[in-house]
Amino acid sequence: MRIRVLGSSAGGGFPQWNCNCRNCSGVRGGTIRARPRTQSSIAVTAGPATAPRTNPLASERGWALVNASPDILYQLHQCPELQPARAVRDTAIAAIVLVDGQVDHTAGLLMLREAGRPWPLWCTDPVYADLMNTNPILRVLQHYCGTERRSMPTDGTPFVLDSIPNLSWQALCVTGKAAPYSAHRLAPVPGDNVALLIADAHSGGTALYAPGLATIDAPLWHAMQSASCVLVDGTFWTDEEILNAGVSAHRARDLGHLAQSGEGGMLEWLAQLPSTTRKILIHINNTNPILDEDSHERAELDHLGVEVAWDGMEICL
Ligand code: MLT
Ligand code: MN
Ligand code: ZN
Repeated sequence: MRIRVLGSSAGGGFPQWNCNCRNCSGVRGGTIRARPRTQSSIAVTAGPATAPRTNPLASERGWALVNASPDILYQLHQCPELQPARAVRDTAIAAIVLVDGQVDHTAGLLMLREAGRPWPLWCTDPVYADLMNTNPILRVLQHYCGTERRSMPTDGTPFVLDSIPNLSWQALCVTGKAAPYSAHRLAPVPGDNVALLIADAHSGGTALYAPGLATIDAPLWHAMQSASCVLVDGTFWTDEEILNAGVSAHRARDLGHLAQSGEGGMLEWLAQLPSTTRKILIHINNTNPILDEDSHERAELDHLGVEVAWDGMEICL
């Protein structure tokens, strides 16, 4: 399978338009070594890891768009492979999958309204309810291309996406936060946030994608251990990061994110995975010091063999 990171940042992007934190002003002014990043999304396709780009068959690949970021139009522009140009109106995106109903993962659906047919849209029941009711994006889309909702099972039953027959998907409920507009923001329900385990039967590669998670429970840990690559919540380095930066009154955990450092943090978990597992942090908030490539936090990741996702990164499994 091939995974293309379309956007590696958390909501707000990097730099965030109104932010003058050390990272945002540093990347804007060129005073730190860091890459700008767009908001959270990946594209996934089956097939040989080494398919040459010039292979005409490559253009026949169907891709899953996992999360529809507010930056989707720019991200598509940066990834010509998602526009195979087989007809006057075309896209290589065959289906859309959502891990939650947060703005950074769903606002881009409105940008995809010119599609020639309803989008096959995979999401859980609570996410579907939020996008039909309190933030009725899907009702708005009915006036354009529309969506064909596919119910995402959360009991571990594998599912296969439309026109991408060679990948098998499993959703695992994770603790996190529904979007602020959700009817159950303060009383989370299973399915508000999921992790996705994606398997390519031909290559045997498996990826675990979980851009938002507050805790690692037994089923998630089991899935992480089984994966050849984990792309996991890289939002915050510390629990107090945005408090200390003076940009929020919240802690990481209040927003449904497990910080990387400290006792029980993400890095402690990643250190217990086999050395052969590829470990990648994704959905990185603009305040996170790991964005500064010369930071000691980044050096610590290098030392632990943990990568930081960047826009355009490709992972072949
Ligand atoms: C989150 O995951 O907490 C978000 O990035 C929130 C947002 O999109 O504003
Ligand atoms: Mn987010
Ligand atoms: Zn910032």
